[in-house]
Amino acid sequence: MADGTLPDHAVEGSISEFQLVELKISSICFRRNNYTRGRKYDDAAAMHTIAIVNIIWFLLALCFIVAFCLYKFSLKLPNRLEDVFQDLIRYGKTKEHIKRPSWQLFFNVSKRCFSHFYAVSVMWNGLLLLFSIRSVVMRETLPDWLIDALWCLTGRPRDAWNELHLSILLIQVLLWVHSLRRLLECLFVSVFSNGVIHIVQYAFGLGYYVLLGLTVLCINASLPQSGAVPFFKQLTWYHAIGTLLFIWASLLQHWSLSLLAKMRTDNSGKVETLAHKMPRGGWFELVSCPHYLAELLIYVAMSVCCGCSSLTWWLVVLYVLYNQALAAQLCHDYYRSKFETYPRQRKAFIPFVL
Ligand SMILES: NC(=O)c1ccc[n+]([C@@H]2O[C@H](COP(=O)([O-])OP(=O)(O)OC[C@H]3O[C@@H](n4cnc5c(N)ncnc54)[C@H](OP(=O)(O)O)[C@@H]3O)[C@@H](O)[C@H]2O)c1
Repeated sequence: MADGTLPDHAVEGSISEFQLVELKISSICFRRNNYTRGRKYDDAAAMHTIAIVNIIWFLLALCFIVAFCLYKFSLKLPNRLEDVFQDLIRYGKTKEHIKRPSWQLFFNVSKRCFSHFYAVSVMWNGLLLLFSIRSVVMRETLPDWLIDALWCLTGRPRDAWNELHLSILLIQVLLWVHSLRRLLECLFVSVFSNGVIHIVQYAFGLGYYVLLGLTVLCINASLPQSGAVPFFKQLTWYHAIGTLLFIWASLLQHWSLSLLAKMRTDNSGKVETLAHKMPRGGWFELVSCPHYLAELLIYVAMSVCCGCSSLTWWLVVLYVLYNQALAAQLCHDYYRSKFETYPRQRKAFIPFVL
């Protein structure tokens, strides 16, 4: 029993079938408890299995790569499916001019609800950050339910989160700051029109920041052991470069979103119009969506903060790249069809490239 196997006497015929089933269940529970309590059980095997968190991000990235290719190369799906596809990839202004069957209007949610995503993120990622700070400062272990969730996502034992890396805490802080800034921008800077998103996009947006926060903690299990290096002595050059890139990308995003808002307001900040105008100035001269480019750079900056060594975070970056590339291409095509004088040299998302 000590290794989680059934005792010798537990053979069919010597005990009832019911007892046998009970023993098998307790044997499985025993294995799992050993696993989460950080004993050696199957630890080596877990290192070589593909973590569920990586599978999730890979599949999400794949969905957006396929969607981007279908859209970019104008590949058409069968009728009904094409309607649903267009409904799911578009939101806001890029949804305005497409004809949608009336039953699809039922799934509309106001685009103003974007702020809910960041409100959830500020609360959830703030809570996770608090647990991490307590773990580093007071040497408290993370709560059991959180360790169980991380175990499900990575298959790694409990002691993988005994020592949190400085990189993890830094990414958690950056993620929280990013979410708070975006929440404040949604509430006090951006001027929303009556654009809509699909209810599936809304549900996805709510779950996205919950998974993202857990993903940051998952990375701790895959970073090289810090050994006996004291927490603040782990600080290194890539933390500084990642943080600087994060600050610059955040400023670029804020500036771009402020410029979009200014196109709808007068000098006193009073809303004059809800129309979609042609953006001009700064990075908008290079790309149609500098705020999407900035979003990608924010995630790259977080990858730099963990020494570019986390496959999991690169899968997140891959997802953001294609998610934002798709949104940018839709927006770019919208501007080109709406404004006859739209600058030909302007790209959608990455200057001179895409
Ligand atoms: N990480 C992710 O998975 C993810 C996913 C989506 C978005 N985001 C980020 O969230 C931020 C906002 O994204 P978004 O898709 O909502 O951006 P967006 O469509 O450009 O909208 C941003 C704001 O500008 C307004 N606006 C857009 N185009 C305009 C124009 N031509 N003239 C005047 N106002 C205009 C919008 O109003 P209306 O649209 O209401 O008219 C909205 O208030 C971006 O920085 C993006 O990177 C991240």
